[in-house]
Amino acid sequence: MLGIFITMSVLIHGASGVGTERLSEMEGESITLNTDVERKQQEDIRWYYTLVNDILIAEITGDQSKICTDVQCTERFRDRLKLDHQTGSLTIKGTRPTDSGVYKLKLNSSRSSTKIFIVTVHSFFSVDTNEESAFVMEGDSVILHTDAETKQQEKIRWYFNGTRIAQITGDLSNICTDVQCNEGTERFRDRLKLDHQTGSLTITKIRNTDTGVYQLRIIISSNISTKSFILAVYDFPVVEVDEIKRKSVKKGESVTLDTHVIKSPNDLMMWYFIDTPIAEITGDQSKICTDDQCEERFRDRLKLDPQTGSLTITNITNTDSGEYKLQINSSRISIRRSFSVSVSIKSFGVNVTAVPDSGVSSGAVAGICVVVLLVVAAAAAVIYYRHWKSTQAGQDGVPWQNNPDERNGVEVSIPLSNKFSTDPC
Ligand SMILES: *[C@@H]1O[C@H](CO)[C@@H](O)[C@H](O)[C@H]1NC(C)=O
Ligand SMILES: *[C@@H]1O[C@H](CO)[C@@H](O)[C@H](O)[C@H]1NC(C)=O
Ligand SMILES: *[C@@H]1O[C@H](CO)[C@@H](O)[C@H](O)[C@H]1NC(C)=O
Ligand SMILES: *[C@@H]1O[C@H](CO)[C@@H](O)[C@H](O)[C@H]1NC(C)=O
Ligand SMILES: *[C@@H]1O[C@H](CO)[C@@H](O)[C@H](O)[C@H]1NC(C)=O
Ligand SMILES: *[C@@H]1O[C@H](CO)[C@@H](O)[C@H](O)[C@H]1NC(C)=O
Repeated sequence: MLGIFITMSVLIHGASGVGTERLSEMEGESITLNTDVERKQQEDIRWYYTLVNDILIAEITGDQSKICTDVQCTERFRDRLKLDHQTGSLTIKGTRPTDSGVYKLKLNSSRSSTKIFIVTVHSFFSVDTNEESAFVMEGDSVILHTDAETKQQEKIRWYFNGTRIAQITGDLSNICTDVQCNEGTERFRDRLKLDHQTGSLTITKIRNTDTGVYQLRIIISSNISTKSFILAVYDFPVVEVDEIKRKSVKKGESVTLDTHVIKSPNDLMMWYFIDTPIAEITGDQSKICTDDQCEERFRDRLKLDPQTGSLTITNITNTDSGEYKLQINSSRISIRRSFSVSVSIKSFGVNVTAVPDSGVSSGAVAGICVVVLLVVAAAAAVIYYRHWKSTQAGQDGVPWQNNPDERNGVEVSIPLSNKFSTDPC
């Protein structure tokens, strides 16, 4: 049956103001990309179609709205876009398979925000869903699977933005990736790997500019089969990606490693700590710590969010420091992401704001002196520890992350000691 079907998943991140949505539709139908906001008077709305570069396709600024102001947009969408003035929502009429891709909504409200849409338009003539899509984060590794075994007469080719980026021929006499495949293009320099057996393509250290449509062509004799993969890289600022992937947490506290995805029922998610599996989620089944080593280390301190697969570690201890890896496998796309957790040393129970300014008895002053000395000693210990730790970390090849709490500890001690430097102690 060539019915109309729509699948959708929505995920809004309150704090960062980044949302994602997936839509799919049959060729010829209309698709509406909803802003889900009531537009405020002073708010600008801009819509982009991202095919490697962002193409501005529609905007509302003040009372003015514009659709397709350049040739690139006009050629692609000629008279097929409609903008709702109240909400800013964008409708694409008479969709075509070539409308598939990534659309971005950018609002410049007080907290400027981006919403990303992966749109898939299926052709009437290819009834099977011939497209796979995934949201990824900067720094991730992604494998696009061919589901093929290379045979003698097979040719496998990968394209991005219409440019050949990798190729394999059945007899393995002709393999190239990126730079060799197309003279001079260095977009993926040293970031592509091709599996010689299957032709599957690995893209490492994903960047924002890798967003777009990847096309696979498998040629057997004169039969050509094609498959498209759409990758959308979250539009988080670099700082936020860093905050998501690098956690510094105090001993005894909890930390959540957020996947920032809504799991599809068939996705498989695996968490590893230093390459040992610690948690797994498939469908509505989840498993935590299936071996003794994990059990011993984490006991009952791991929790999995069944919707997102996010991992929470409670009551953090020193031995929890290290690299956590997340593997997400859907049918044809695998994503690998690394998180680093560092456990900061225990905070010292000194309440600086509680120290009174005047009318202090000599006994209290002596007490304060001791506290000050303790704080200074603690700061010194922190500095020494950080120094030691960064040396250690340097040896392990893991860059040491500044921890705001430790920074506070150091900063706090300085005004205090200055403040009391004229006092008897
Ligand atoms: C949005 O941007 C426009 C100019 O592009 C500016 O006039 C307006 O003040 C901005 N609105 C906010 C809320 O920042
Ligand atoms: C993508 O392809 C188009 C058409 O071939 C080309 O004009 C454009 O420069 C390409 N973009 C990038 C970033 O390579
Ligand atoms: C090409 O595809 C057709 C239809 O799918 C199939 O019948 C035929 O055997 C294929 N030819 C080769 C050489 O694989
Ligand atoms: C946290 O772990 C420590 C030992 O590492 C244990 O003594 C303490 O009871 C735990 N606290 C909670 C709330 O589980
Ligand atoms: C997930 O995909 C990766 C890459 O293809 C594969 O190596 C791994 O075995 C898969 N994991 C599971 C549990 O299927
Ligand atoms: C530190 O001082 C603040 C404000 O005076 C107070 O609310 C807080 O409970 C104190 N903390 C400790 C650990 O004494």
